[in-house]
Amino acid sequence: MTQQRAQFATRLGVIATTVGSAVGLGNIWRFPFEAGVHGGGAFLLIDLFFIFIIGVPVVCAEFIIGRHTGLNVRGAFRKLAPGRPWGIVGYLGLLASILILSFYSVVAGWTLEYIWQSLNSFGGVTSVEGLHGQFDSFATSDWRPAMWTIVFLAINYLILARGVQKGIEKMSNIMMPLLFVILVVFCINSLRMPAAAEGLTFLFKPDFSQVTPSVMLGAMGQAFFSLSLGLGCLITYSSYFKKETPLLRTAGIMAWLDTMVAILAGVIIFPAVFTFGMEPAAGPKLVFEILPSIFMHMPGSMMWSVLFFILLFLASLSSTISMSEITIAYMTDEYGFSRRRATAYNIGVAMLLGSVCALSFGSLSGWTVCGLTVFNLFDYVSSNIILPVGGMIISIFVGWVLDRTVVTSELMTPGSGVKPWMVKAVVICLRYIAPTCIGLVFVCGLGLW
Ligand code: PFF
Repeated sequence: MTQQRAQFATRLGVIATTVGSAVGLGNIWRFPFEAGVHGGGAFLLIDLFFIFIIGVPVVCAEFIIGRHTGLNVRGAFRKLAPGRPWGIVGYLGLLASILILSFYSVVAGWTLEYIWQSLNSFGGVTSVEGLHGQFDSFATSDWRPAMWTIVFLAINYLILARGVQKGIEKMSNIMMPLLFVILVVFCINSLRMPAAAEGLTFLFKPDFSQVTPSVMLGAMGQAFFSLSLGLGCLITYSSYFKKETPLLRTAGIMAWLDTMVAILAGVIIFPAVFTFGMEPAAGPKLVFEILPSIFMHMPGSMMWSVLFFILLFLASLSSTISMSEITIAYMTDEYGFSRRRATAYNIGVAMLLGSVCALSFGSLSGWTVCGLTVFNLFDYVSSNIILPVGGMIISIFVGWVLDRTVVTSELMTPGSGVKPWMVKAVVICLRYIAPTCIGLVFVCGLGLW
């Protein structure tokens, strides 16, 4: 059963790894394309509401459960509520983690293709149309996207099998600050583009006539996805936290940095979308078509392009590592698997499902369920259904069921600076606000009401 648990070594390590989990393709790829599809400003505003009003307290709830029990997602609920059905969150989380890992690795594989393409100067193609055509022919290829997905997952295996501290923490410490700096450089570049004003208006000016229940559902799904919330990833990570890690502050820093990166990505992408006359609602391919066009117009284009896609690849890696950790901790804690074996099973299943997702832009595009390809189905079901449902159950559990002294003692650790009113605010949100909002958006967004 439970073995001696690893811990993150330093305070910086805790921040870097949780931010490393949160910041990834969700911010730089998914946020701009979802905002593009759902009308820009209004989507951003609802996303911010879900991140700060609902997200931060639910992140705290996951942290409280994880650190208090020091267990994986399934074990944590079994310990806190033995013989009761709350552990369902654990199973939902395990399912979501494998669905997300599968489609996420496809997009991470695209970043590898783009590192390769950048090194080859995109085969000499310089026109915007040419670059777009190149993405289409790559994404619809019969084998290339699947090959990169498998390569990406194999890299995950190598890192995960080395263990928590050595593998994840060292990498995140170096990579996250670098990513931030380079995003700021690209932002400045985009702000000097001819249609910068138009792009910024699209991103920041809310047009409430665009807000429909499905936009709200999309924004809620984006907030949960981006915070790695609702599937037990943060329960698992916080089981490696030290007793003195300040939970509320860590949740706040994580939400801020995560939001900053998404907004920076929007500020990079939308001025370029309007400058190059593209459609903001182009969907998953948006960012991959726009970015090379941006780099082409910068001095030293190849260097920027290589550097950016390497950082995007590393940001994806720190996120996929965190989602794999959910299953690995579960299999090692609950069934005594060795870390290597648990990792091999997890990555093996993701390779199979991921290959199907990878081909769903090409030869398997005809495989659809309710009009969604396998790739889109995995994304929709995990982000818009499982994560909010998981988040709702977690908030009800911590708000209503978990002993209040546990909540208070976990949040008010010495030196955390947390006041009793802050604990109260978190509890009120977990008891009333989060379940009501999530429930309403969910029921309306899915058209159940
Ligand atoms: N939050 C990550 C991102 O925005 O890219 C995605 C993610 C990581 C989702 C870990 C879920 C998870 F457990």
